[in-house]
Amino acid sequence: MARKTAILISGRGSNMAALLDAAKAPGYPAEIVLVASNRPGAAGLGIAAGHGISTRAIDHTAYETREDFETALTAELEKAGAELVCLAGFMRLLTDGFVKHWRDKLINIHPSLLPAFKGMDTHARALAAGVKITGCSVHFVREEMDSGPIIAQAAVPVLAGDDEAALAARVLDAEHALYPMALALVASGRARVVGEKVMVEENSPPDYRPLISPPSAG
Ligand code: GRF
Repeated sequence: MARKTAILISGRGSNMAALLDAAKAPGYPAEIVLVASNRPGAAGLGIAAGHGISTRAIDHTAYETREDFETALTAELEKAGAELVCLAGFMRLLTDGFVKHWRDKLINIHPSLLPAFKGMDTHARALAAGVKITGCSVHFVREEMDSGPIIAQAAVPVLAGDDEAALAARVLDAEHALYPMALALVASGRARVVGEKVMVEENSPPDYRPLISPPSAG
């Protein structure tokens, strides 16, 4: 049985679209039951509706406190029967209470090789640091921002002449490949948290990999 999964977005929703596309494949172990946004104008809501997926706009500005907003959000997630929740460009900090409620069921994608470059402006900081490899990480969410057991990572080369936009676009392509694999690993039960690290069962099908590594940039 495919695990019922919700996706939370705030904007364009390109990672969400990658998950929706992947979930259409026969045998994919997650079924997307809801896309919700804290911003009613998020472009991703229209894309999800175009895929025939239920959508909700839960405008955080309409709630007095973070907790009130999250209570409304959890109510929608539970009404949809969500067992897993994927953050995909969801730009609200979540309270400890929400994170605890969804522990080991709440997944995020971050555009760096964690634990490097937590927070915003990851690509500008990677360029400033002069790293030769950056990438993206999918991880279970913990209370501290951009931390938590890492499910899967993709390495992406930084090329001579890269500016922030060029690097962001290359990493985003990797995100679109990585997130569906990471969700499949979790939804199929092949990736589990053991002692705050993710263990991946070795007989995972080769198309669900926890590591994407590029060829040398030369
Ligand atoms: C992605 O780079 C993701 O890693 C980060 O926010 C961005 C969202 O982009 N958390 P999109 O909305 O999925 O296109």
